[in-house]
Amino acid sequence: MNKLTRGVVFYAPEQKKQNSNRTITIFDTTLRDGEQTPGVTIPFDKKIEIASQLDKLGVDAIEAGFPISSPGDKESVKKIAGLGLNADVCGLARSVIKDIDACIDCDVDMVHVFIPTSDVQREYTIKKTREEALNSAVEMVEYIKSHGFKCMFSPMDATRTDFEYLVEIVKAVKAAGCDIVNIPDTVGVMVPTSTYELIYNLKKNVDMKYDMHCHNDFGLANANSITAVEAGADQVQVTVNGIGERAGNASLAEVVMALSSIYGFKTNIKTEYLTETSKMVEKYSGIKMPPMLPVCGENAFSHESGIHSQGVLAKSDTFEPGVMTPEMVGQKRRIVLGKHAGRHAVLQNLEAVNIHPTEEQLTEILTKIKEIGDRGKTVTDADLYVVASVVLGKKGMDEAIKLKEVSVMTGNIVTPTAVIRAEVNGKETIAAQTGVGPVDAALRAAEEIVGDTTYKIEEFSIEAIAGGSDSLARVTIVLANERGKSVTAKSANADIVMASVEALINAMNALAGMD
Ligand code: KIV
Ligand code: ZN
Repeated sequence: MNKLTRGVVFYAPEQKKQNSNRTITIFDTTLRDGEQTPGVTIPFDKKIEIASQLDKLGVDAIEAGFPISSPGDKESVKKIAGLGLNADVCGLARSVIKDIDACIDCDVDMVHVFIPTSDVQREYTIKKTREEALNSAVEMVEYIKSHGFKCMFSPMDATRTDFEYLVEIVKAVKAAGCDIVNIPDTVGVMVPTSTYELIYNLKKNVDMKYDMHCHNDFGLANANSITAVEAGADQVQVTVNGIGERAGNASLAEVVMALSSIYGFKTNIKTEYLTETSKMVEKYSGIKMPPMLPVCGENAFSHESGIHSQGVLAKSDTFEPGVMTPEMVGQKRRIVLGKHAGRHAVLQNLEAVNIHPTEEQLTEILTKIKEIGDRGKTVTDADLYVVASVVLGKKGMDEAIKLKEVSVMTGNIVTPTAVIRAEVNGKETIAAQTGVGPVDAALRAAEEIVGDTTYKIEEFSIEAIAGGSDSLARVTIVLANERGKSVTAKSANADIVMASVEALINAMNALAGMD
């Protein structure tokens, strides 16, 4: 029988040990290539927050922007360079003096200068011969070094550049004092095997520090970045959530976790901050991540099917990678209830909120949960609580807060105002509040009705089901109290204000009942 070699080799302790002698540095370009994502503009103050978060995360370099491209970009690069971060702050420049001067004005630590080197880009964009492009690169690297800055050089579209010419230009910039050469796969055409061959042979021809910058046009950016490291690259360029031009760049969290957890390479990333960083960039870039996003996504450590949930509850390695746990990346393991739910999963979720059903009650709860799942609904904490309270004969959720009336006033010349009337523990209560919009006003009024100021809305999202103006609005709320308990509740209604208030009241009822 033939034995597997490569399939098991990276898990072999001796291979991992050898890799652990190499520290791979992480160059983050969320604020530059990431901001080039079509339709994305990150506000100035949010860029500063993201830069500070990246520094807390432990990235080695932050490409803060392209200073010559706009006064706003220049201002934010300057501000970030002045924050006193541990990471090197870098500015991008074309191979022209005025671009480099703009980076120097920002007082960055490093200038990243690029020039197109593939025939197609060279001929159709900068209209220079190979020799002219090479001379320009050398001149600019010398200029950057003579001003005392670190220098990274990128032969743009390197992966479609004639190899002999690529070697020639890399040799020339090395002789000019360049500190590191970045190899951009500008249009994402590499595969892991060609990436390996390119980096391995470049390193053999010109021994210097290499960085890899991959685009995701064929979904191979992460795999190519990791392979570049296997072949000898010292650094990778990534963005948070893989945002960037067209199909995006290699993803910071995925590349770092694969490099460290599977291969055993060292990085300086404090991986426990990966998920909060991902969520921050999701919020400030406005690019919503799918639930199945690896590492940081909602479903990355969620289990629904009975077989998986039972396995994971007995030993998490059964249906998780094991070498990467939720705790390592700042995530939580979730046992999600739906039509595939099993006894163990339901029991665990109930016991977590101090509900201890008998075997018979558990069977009945499980049947009802599956019925809800079969209707195509996600079973939230609030749904589970309602089902359990009915089965266990506890006070039903609708007896705690009973919504009687919601009215809102909004428009271009009135301050959005909401009035809510409800029965709270049998007593009629009414509250009126203003807000930035009708939903905000209504949620504030609902909070006032209950009078518990310790509730905190941790997450709030609205999506339109189906698309047209008559769509149902589905609202999801995660509500927490000061005792550290949190619940998820949902509601769907053609009226966006009603959906929001119902979801909040469902969550409040569930949370109150669990205490
Ligand atoms: O994709 C690319 O080629 C770039 C360069 C500026 C490095 O982003
Ligand atoms: Zn790029």
